[in-house]
Amino acid sequence: MRIPEQIQRLAVITAVIIVGVLVARFLLIPRSLISDELHRASTIQRENARPIKFAGSSACQDCHEDKTSQMRKGYHKNLSCEGCHGPAVRHTEDPMGVKPPAPRDRKFCPLCHGYDASRPTGFPQINPTVHNPIKPCITCHNPHDPVPRQVPQSCSACHAQIQRTTAVSSHALLRCTTCHNVPAQHRKTPRSALPSKPESRAFCGSCHGKESAQKDAPKVDLTNHGSTYLCWQCHYPHLPEGRG
Ligand code: HEC
Ligand code: HEC
Ligand code: HEC
Ligand code: HEC
Ligand code: HEC
Ligand code: HEC
Ligand code: HEC
Ligand code: HEC
Repeated sequence: MRIPEQIQRLAVITAVIIVGVLVARFLLIPRSLISDELHRASTIQRENARPIKFAGSSACQDCHEDKTSQMRKGYHKNLSCEGCHGPAVRHTEDPMGVKPPAPRDRKFCPLCHGYDASRPTGFPQINPTVHNPIKPCITCHNPHDPVPRQVPQSCSACHAQIQRTTAVSSHALLRCTTCHNVPAQHRKTPRSALPSKPESRAFCGSCHGKESAQKDAPKVDLTNHGSTYLCWQCHYPHLPEGRG
């Protein structure tokens, strides 16, 4: 039986292609372009020649045992030291001469914790523009052992809403009892012993008046600021920055 002519032609073309590829592969293209051993060797050489920048978290342990053990049990246990402090190999070689930077700025933590719909459900996220917008994150959260800052349980059991509001306001660091005298009995039979509430402009003035020694609190002139109205007719005391 004869093989049909078109198949013969196809066979010739196929043979020419195969031979062509083989010739190119083994004779025309220089070995240095093909050989992966050569490539690997030179890549390894090149990478080895780069200075090492990261020391690895275990390197920090020798000298910063306190931080390492604090981190190990907290929410940040899976983070690497140098993820926040930057490459620190030169610091491990010359601890006093080269100090790694610490990210104390508010902009840093939201890189991971700023609200972003694509993050996994349940990952703790905040909206940096409303989550206590003034102070650095580390005023309230220890970077090596962050816990959601607990608002005093003694009040939140019943006043959860107020407590959560205050917790992220510019009054977050004030205690409830700075402004309210709370009789012990209030926690058992709340209505029979109500806490006091501030009564005068002078009360807020003790921190916000021009003469006040409280240095963190912004100052206003009590004689004319807000006329003679009570301060909380305009400022909600548990979220004073929201002005009515
Ligand atoms: C050989 C010991 C040693 C090792 C290893 C070491 N440190 Fe330090 N580190 C020090 C000393 C000493 C200081 C200075 C303490 C001081 O100034 O009071 C310091 C200070 C620091 C500071 C504070 C810098 C500042 O501005 O105050 C940071 C942050 C820090 N180290 C991070 C690290 C990290 C991250 C590692 C691991 C990659 C590491 N260290 C490994 C000894 C070491
Ligand atoms: C989530 C980011 C983060 C991680 C992870 C982290 N740090 Fe820090 N670290 C900070 C910040 C922010 C400060 C500044 C704290 C301050 O000024 O109160 C700091 C401060 C330090 C200091 C200066 C001493 C001090 O108390 O101010 C040392 C030392 C240090 N870190 C070591 C480490 C080591 C070691 C690790 C790993 C076990 C580590 N850090 C992991 C953010 C981090
Ligand atoms: C590299 C990403 C990363 C950075 C940067 C980072 N964190 Fe975290 N943080 C995490 C992870 C991961 C957890 C644990 C989440 C979990 O357990 O689901 C966590 C947990 C927390 C929690 C506990 C919240 C809760 O309710 O479970 C707080 C508070 C927190 N971080 C504050 C901070 C602060 C303040 C900084 C800046 C100093 C910071 N984080 C920087 C990744 C990061
Ligand atoms: C004045 C104190 C204060 C400051 C400043 C502050 N926080 Fe918080 N943070 C809190 C309190 C209180 C809570 C718990 C709030 C609650 O339970 O509703 C909290 C909760 C969190 C949580 C947990 C949220 C969750 O869903 O579990 C994260 C993450 C967090 N803060 C990150 C940050 C970051 C990042 C910054 C800086 C941009 C910051 N915080 C600044 C007081 C503060
Ligand atoms: C067992 C629950 C409970 C606990 C715990 C509790 N309260 Fe109350 N509180 C109440 C109730 C109920 C009222 C009355 C609300 C009403 O009449 O609408 C009240 C009223 C108040 C008032 C308003 C008083 C007034 O004259 O309007 C203040 C201020 C107050 N609580 C502060 C606090 C503080 C601060 C704490 C924590 C030290 C606290 N409470 C703990 C239940 C509680
Ligand atoms: C800066 C001072 C200040 C702080 C801190 C403060 N309060 Fe108040 N609180 C006030 C003032 C002023 C009023 C009265 C507001 C009014 O009459 O409109 C008030 C009213 C209240 C009331 C009565 C209901 C209401 O919403 O008016 C409750 C309950 C209360 N506070 C609970 C708390 C708790 C719980 C905390 C701690 C998380 C707290 N307060 C922290 C100043 C403060
Ligand atoms: C114990 C001191 C203290 C008392 C009492 C106090 N405050 Fe403040 N207040 C502060 C501090 C501190 C800040 C600023 C916190 C910051 O800058 O992060 C502040 C912030 C404020 C702000 C500025 C918010 C902003 O960011 O623009 C207003 C408004 C305010 N308080 C109103 C009041 C009113 C109204 C009262 C009385 C019910 C009061 N404060 C009582 C300490 C106090
Ligand atoms: C009639 C309404 C009104 C009353 C009453 C009032 N304020 Fe204000 N307050 C404002 C407004 C509006 C602002 C923002 C504009 C400004 O900064 O002047 C403000 C701003 C502030 C600030 C922030 C200033 C700054 O530099 O960031 C503080 C603190 C403050 N008030 C405290 C008080 C205190 C304390 C009282 C009571 C003695 C009070 N206010 C009464 C309306 C009022």
